[in-house]
Amino acid sequence: MPSPHPAAWAGAIEQALKGALILPENRCFTLVRRPEGMPVDADFALVTQDAPELQDGQFLLRNHYASLDPAMRGWMDDKPSYFPPIPLGHPIPASTIGVVAASRNDDFPVGSWVAGFGAIEEYTLHRKGSGRKIDRGLLPVVTNYLSIASGVGPTAYFALLDIGKPLAGETVLVTGAAGAVGSLVGQIAKLKGCRTVGIAGGARKCERLLRDYGYDAAIDYKGKSPEELVAAIREAAPDGVDIQFENVGGAILDAGLMTLNDKARVVLCGLISQYNCDPLPTKNLWQLIVKGARIEGFILTQYISRLGEAVPELTSWVREGKLRIDEHIEEGIENALPAFLKLFEGTNDGKMILKLV
Ligand SMILES: NC(=O)c1ccc[n+]([C@@H]2O[C@H](COP(=O)([O-])OP(=O)(O)OC[C@H]3O[C@@H](n4cnc5c(N)ncnc54)[C@H](OP(=O)(O)O)[C@@H]3O)[C@@H](O)[C@H]2O)c1
Repeated sequence: MPSPHPAAWAGAIEQALKGALILPENRCFTLVRRPEGMPVDADFALVTQDAPELQDGQFLLRNHYASLDPAMRGWMDDKPSYFPPIPLGHPIPASTIGVVAASRNDDFPVGSWVAGFGAIEEYTLHRKGSGRKIDRGLLPVVTNYLSIASGVGPTAYFALLDIGKPLAGETVLVTGAAGAVGSLVGQIAKLKGCRTVGIAGGARKCERLLRDYGYDAAIDYKGKSPEELVAAIREAAPDGVDIQFENVGGAILDAGLMTLNDKARVVLCGLISQYNCDPLPTKNLWQLIVKGARIEGFILTQYISRLGEAVPELTSWVREGKLRIDEHIEEGIENALPAFLKLFEGTNDGKMILKLV
């Protein structure tokens, strides 16, 4: 057999040396049009890009799971926000966890599990300083990092404890109570000795509030007039509401405001009922005046430097069985939109996560 030409050997050796750096193609879920109202298929495109060349200090993360969050809807609009609007043609940004597929960064060797802020895409290029290595022993399953150590856990923790400042014996009203943030808020409030009242959509979710998250009372908002909702909250919170943890807005926010105690705190964490429509005016803000109450917005980006306070306590509560996490996992990058829409249909049971591998 003739031996290969020296130039061919050189090519093969170079290829072998590059081994780990032969980069794959990357399917990305991109925004191609700004949604009007509820997002539809034509607002997005699944595109395939070449993975970029790795530079020193960079690594390529094979995303296994992406967090789907209601806030992404706001990033799709061209409006001033805490996060720049997603440029058309770009992948939808997302917190992800995955395994390093190629690396020119010794701190992130191939094969290690990493959490980072990337996008709904198969591979994300991380630059030096981005990404956090995951300690697989800390939480029962790897997806729990998206629920506890990423956006949702620290949101529930800081928004309730820093802004709500719960005291034992106080009553905490949580809207969107069966969701990812709301279910944690209810449980943390119980750990702090509070009485908890949760509002959610439907009898099944209300059963879960009582059974799975330890709420003292559960209210199904569906089919109730504003007056009926106020009456239901008053019945469930006979001593009034000291902290209203607001995830929903609109008529639900308005109903809660009518039940506040003197010096109550309203934690404005989210307004999910208003994300796909022109926001409705809030009618009962006057209650803040007559009760000398306070309303304050929360945004997690202002707490990034303090994540080290929240995550160890949240993970130890999970390990000790004091904090229950529920996750709703949908599969396949091609299902990104239907999975995202479940957040607005109320058909997610727990933290919405998209499985990419
Ligand atoms: N400020 C921050 O830094 C920050 C960070 C994370 C999350 N958030 C906010 O926290 C809230 C919850 O987020 P999450 O990730 O935990 O989502 P989630 O609660 O797990 O899922 C969304 C839930 O919202 C409820 N919902 C949707 N549309 C509604 C409507 N029109 N009226 C009433 N309820 C509606 C549904 O529950 P029902 O079936 O009970 O209706 C749905 O299951 C959102 O408002 C989000 O924007 C804020």
